[in-house]
Amino acid sequence: HDHFLASDASALAPVTRRVAYLEEGDVADIHLDSYAIYDASEARVTRQVVTVKTADDAVELGPYRHYMQKEIFEQPRAVADTLESVGTIEPSLFGAAAAEVFSNVDSVRLLACGTSYYAGMVARSWLEGVAGIPAQAEIASEYRYRDSVPDPKALVVVISQSGETADTLAAMRHAKAAYLTRAGTEIGVASTKAFTTQLTALFLLTLALAKSRGRLTAEDEARWLRDLRHLPSAIQSVLALEPMIIAWAEQFAKKQNALFLGRGLHYPIALEGALKLKEISYIHGEAYPAGELKHGPLALVDSRMPVVAIAPNDALLEKLKSNLQEVRARGGELYVIADADSQIETSDGIHVLRLPEYAGLLSPIVHTIPLQLLAYHTAVIRDTDVDKPRNLGGTAAPRSGFAARSRLCVDPR
Ligand code: M6R
Repeated sequence: HDHFLASDASALAPVTRRVAYLEEGDVADIHLDSYAIYDASEARVTRQVVTVKTADDAVELGPYRHYMQKEIFEQPRAVADTLESVGTIEPSLFGAAAAEVFSNVDSVRLLACGTSYYAGMVARSWLEGVAGIPAQAEIASEYRYRDSVPDPKALVVVISQSGETADTLAAMRHAKAAYLTRAGTEIGVASTKAFTTQLTALFLLTLALAKSRGRLTAEDEARWLRDLRHLPSAIQSVLALEPMIIAWAEQFAKKQNALFLGRGLHYPIALEGALKLKEISYIHGEAYPAGELKHGPLALVDSRMPVVAIAPNDALLEKLKSNLQEVRARGGELYVIADADSQIETSDGIHVLRLPEYAGLLSPIVHTIPLQLLAYHTAVIRDTDVDKPRNLGGTAAPRSGFAARSRLCVDPR
């Protein structure tokens, strides 16, 4: 007999399918031929051994070189799966208690870490703009240690890819219901399809809250559902731009730093692009809301600083364009992720990647794809360990530590 310890059953797929799940507070004493489990009160307990279903399709790399690349390309399916059981927009999508909870809340607080926090930042804008409900996003490790004012009418939404982040768990202790996205297993440490499925689920939450507040007409509901269902093919057509992004990555791989700019809904996407780049390629990436450029970071810009701009054809585009001129005037090399009607042309020092269409309020979901590919290919060129970035955990292949599903929990407080 052998015994193994892992934080996710899929990490053990090569050696066993028989698994005993530890519960909160459990401690396991493991030996080659025996093990014992003790609960939080140090009493010896038995945890049932179950046979887990194989997750071979998640563990198989197929034609891909890394799990991250595979997971980037799985996004059309992951988003489609997240939307699969959605017929109409109903609070019950978020659990049986959601209808009552939603009718009693007057604000939303989104708590998460890392990439999941950026999903929360995008959702904040959706919730205020579409559902008309005051919302704020906060980093879970900050929230849990500060004296905040308890607000019984605030809906607390906790977002986690793994469902295992200690700070996030501490922030959600009293969660009453859970809604699962259908990302499937993410093996690469860098979050990709978990992020886009989190965003998809958060947009559904926005629509559900809008509906329960009488702010969603039947016509709007039908239109949003149509737009959501179009997302998988919109993502697919962005994935087809990979060769051009590889050409960009060849330039980025030679750099030490990169600046990412976005405005409004796309500022969190700029943050996510910078995080992805630093996490797997070890290039320093920093993101700013483009309007903040002149308040400091412009001093960093010279010909050695590539500047990525997220430039969808939205109401902020003209403002963004004037920020981009400021960058060009200092010799900064611009890499612009635009869409069909953005009217920014490739010219000296300006490289434009044109996404086939503008996805409206759902555009953050589509615009994040080229940034994932840019980070991925830059890391591949720099020959880093893409699926197990240094210092970030993940010691086994496939890496442990990340559970099979993204989780979006709704907690009435
Ligand atoms: O599993 P969680 O969503 O709770 O993890 C939070 C962060 O550690 C995570 O989003 C991290 O920033 C990403 N893996 C980065 O790609």
